[in-house]
Amino acid sequence: MADSPRVRWRRKSLRFRLTAVASAALALALAVSASVLMTVLGRSLIGTVDDSTRLRAQDVRAQADAGDLANPIGTVDGTLVQVLDGTGRITHSTYGTDRLVPLLDDRDRDRAIAEDRALYLDGRPYGIPGPLRVVVVRADRGQTVLAARPVGEIQESLSIAGRVLFAGTPVLIVLLAGASWLIIGRTLRPIASLRKGAADITHTARSRRLPVPEARDEVYSLATTLNDMLARLEEAESRQRALVSDAAHELRSPLASMRLQLEVAIGHPEGQDWRETAEGVLEDAMRLSRLAEDLLALARLDERGGIPARSEPVNLDEVTRQVADRYAEARLTACDPVVVHGDAIDLSRVLTNLMDNAVRHAAAKVEVSLTADGVLTVTDDGPGIPEQDRERVFNRFTRLDDGRSRDEGGAGLGLAIVRETVRAHGGTVCLEDAGPGLRAVVRLPPRAL
Ligand SMILES: Nc1ncnc2c1ncn2[C@@H]1O[C@H](COP(=O)(O)OP(=O)(O)OP(=O)(O)O)[C@@H](O)[C@H]1O
Ligand SMILES: [Mg+2]
Repeated sequence: MADSPRVRWRRKSLRFRLTAVASAALALALAVSASVLMTVLGRSLIGTVDDSTRLRAQDVRAQADAGDLANPIGTVDGTLVQVLDGTGRITHSTYGTDRLVPLLDDRDRDRAIAEDRALYLDGRPYGIPGPLRVVVVRADRGQTVLAARPVGEIQESLSIAGRVLFAGTPVLIVLLAGASWLIIGRTLRPIASLRKGAADITHTARSRRLPVPEARDEVYSLATTLNDMLARLEEAESRQRALVSDAAHELRSPLASMRLQLEVAIGHPEGQDWRETAEGVLEDAMRLSRLAEDLLALARLDERGGIPARSEPVNLDEVTRQVADRYAEARLTACDPVVVHGDAIDLSRVLTNLMDNAVRHAAAKVEVSLTADGVLTVTDDGPGIPEQDRERVFNRFTRLDDGRSRDEGGAGLGLAIVRETVRAHGGTVCLEDAGPGLRAVVRLPPRAL
């Protein structure tokens, strides 16, 4: 099936379509202005002739009314004049003008007077090539004055002008279309180089940025926006890569430890305490499974892009009490009723991660409090975190050296999960100095009651 003209048009290049539309609009505008020009020019030239002919006719009428008409009437500017009496007979005329037949018969004379305008008349019967404009004026005593002027030259000039326009307009249109084609091509060049840049990125992965044009125009903002996007993608990609390599690194040590314990046990079965081996291996397996769970939690948070898994009313005080109850060393100092929107399991994971950290680092006591304005704090009396590290520890796989050396230390994902979960719930989390110790402060927007 052949494509419809519409489809074929849409498939043409942007350059072609823009040029075609611009040229069509231009052609229309030129044609309209040429025809307006011709009409106005013709009207005004003929109008000038009519005016001067009428002046001459009025002149002659004044002479006729005064009764001092010469015969023949003097010729002024080649104007032919006939003066008729009440019966329609020619009594006076200019030299060389028909003395027997009036230029207009009485019906046309009446019409010219009634409509108060000049009429066209073929000049050939009067020996004049081309048309005449005839003005009729009534005088006293039933007399009528006819004055006529040849307009052949004017019509000739008009038709020459028309021919020039008719021939010149298409040439002009072709020239302007060519110019549009070139200008539009130049304008679209930065887009072509954007495309080439994008192709280079795809094919070679060498340059990671699109070429930015010099002009501060729309293409410039497109290129910079796309470059920002590429930068963000690149950043996300490198973060992803770092995550994978960190994750692999974290997986390696429990796996290596399991392997070593099993190899030793199998290599020297005599006097082997299998229970001890199994406990060691189990511990590593638990570390692995915790790591896998944390990675999964982060992946889910990333996937949802800042929205909690569920959005239902959660009694934060209930969640807080349940989690705090699981830790013998934790003391609940305040627990006001607070309802927030979100996911109860995710929120209890937030508190669990903070409690794990606090319990791990605390010297003696851990305090938990929840106030009615949705502020949840977990305070310990441990070594705390130096000011300059308090933001950094929220990054994935970030452990401070002290934490790294500890055996029970995790992978460094706990606080990253906390921050991202709290963010997804529309809240904030920060670490403060509790002097001594550390206070984690989570602010969640409480649901309006
Ligand atoms: N209450 C705290 N007191 C002192 N240091 C802390 C405290 N909480 C966290 N940190 C430091 O911040 C680091 C990052 O904590 P995060 O919870 O993210 O990881 P982690 O506890 O080491 O491992 P994970 O939580 O994945 O088991 C910890 O390694 C530790 O050095
Ligand atoms: Mg932790």
